[in-house]
Amino acid sequence: MENFQYHNPTKLFFGKGQLEALKNEIPLYGKRVLVLYGGGSIKRNGLYDRVMSLLKEIDAFTVELNGVEPNPRLTTVNKGIHLIKENELDFILAIGGGSVIDCAKAIAAGSHYEGDVWDLVTKKAPVTSALPIGTVLTLVATGSEMNGGSVITNWEAQDKRAFGSIHTFPKFSVLDPELTFSVPRDQTVYGIVDIMSHVLEQYFHASTNAPLQERMGEAILRTVIEVSPKLVDDLENYAYREVMMLNGTFALNGTLSMGVKTDWATHMIEHAVSAVHDIPHGGGLAILFPHWMAYVAKQKPEKVAQLGIRVFDIDSKGKMDNEVAKETIDALRSFWNSIGAPATLSDYKIDDKELELMSERAMVAETIGGYIPLKKEDVKEILRNAL
Ligand code: NZQ
Ligand code: ZN
Repeated sequence: MENFQYHNPTKLFFGKGQLEALKNEIPLYGKRVLVLYGGGSIKRNGLYDRVMSLLKEIDAFTVELNGVEPNPRLTTVNKGIHLIKENELDFILAIGGGSVIDCAKAIAAGSHYEGDVWDLVTKKAPVTSALPIGTVLTLVATGSEMNGGSVITNWEAQDKRAFGSIHTFPKFSVLDPELTFSVPRDQTVYGIVDIMSHVLEQYFHASTNAPLQERMGEAILRTVIEVSPKLVDDLENYAYREVMMLNGTFALNGTLSMGVKTDWATHMIEHAVSAVHDIPHGGGLAILFPHWMAYVAKQKPEKVAQLGIRVFDIDSKGKMDNEVAKETIDALRSFWNSIGAPATLSDYKIDDKELELMSERAMVAETIGGYIPLKKEDVKEILRNAL
């Protein structure tokens, strides 16, 4: 293991009726609140009215910013920063999935920064402080409700970047599985793929002697694989939704990455694809992860084989690691396809025209990926294989 520090300051309120926690929590940080949400799902399912009446009960002054896009955009972040400054707001309440929460984090950091917030997103300048944020999670996928990470798209520059800071962890997150009942089947599937991908990005690490971290990752994968087929056919089942919610949060709250050098190449490639084509994050991952795995298995098949044996129950007797690795990749791909995830970039009408641009955008450093560092040509080949 590598040396590490661990500090996760987000307080969770998990379960039915936990929305009430807003009344006690928000006044701890301020009562001038930016209420941030997406394209309208919270109005359709009644959550908006419930939150606004709780805010009224505590006499909060509220300013709203709605229309946060899936793959949230820099232009919306800037609108938020403007509203914070203009109205002297002291707290941000993000109600939504990863996109709304990520947008809140960028607004929070940007409103404490004199320069252009894109400097923070691209890590040209460090985040040194941020406005406090709280979240009400409505879609299980990103883990953003319990981490400091944020992913923002600069649509004009066709660039999508991730940044993170201890200052942008939510102060608290309300995790009520009932609030995810209205998530449609396709978004539920993208969330499942995203959760599993987060585990895989950390499972494929470049460190040694991390059996607990790996076993915890395998536990999440096995649990998600067990519950997903039932959930996608029974979207308002509380038991399935609550299991998925806890898995989603734990897949990316720092637990699995303690003491290991993680990979994340597939996420960087996916971010580049969605920066250019604006596709759902989980959809992109379902297409790319098996191709990344096949590419790295050519050099290091052992870990892929371990995943197959421990998570997909592949019988390895008398087989070489590369054979088991191939069966593992087939098992992963067919599991995702069985719940309705896409399999090729052409499912999103993406052809080879922008391979060069997407590969270039994925290269946020000279090489990407901790498990096996990839150069631009490697990325291009993975993308080509995924067409
Ligand atoms: O905008 P509304 O109308 O609310 O609709 C949203 C949106 O269209 C809808 N939705 C959310 N909750 C719902 C609901 N529909 C019905 N009922 C509900 N309860 O779902 C759609 C997608 O929402 P979005 O927030 O975009 O999805 P997700 O949570 O998957 O977030 C994706 C973004 O997070 C980034 C991705 O790159 C992408 O930009 N990521 C953030 C990470 C992080 N901060 O740690 C890590 C991830 O790997 C990821 O990169
Ligand atoms: Zn993700």
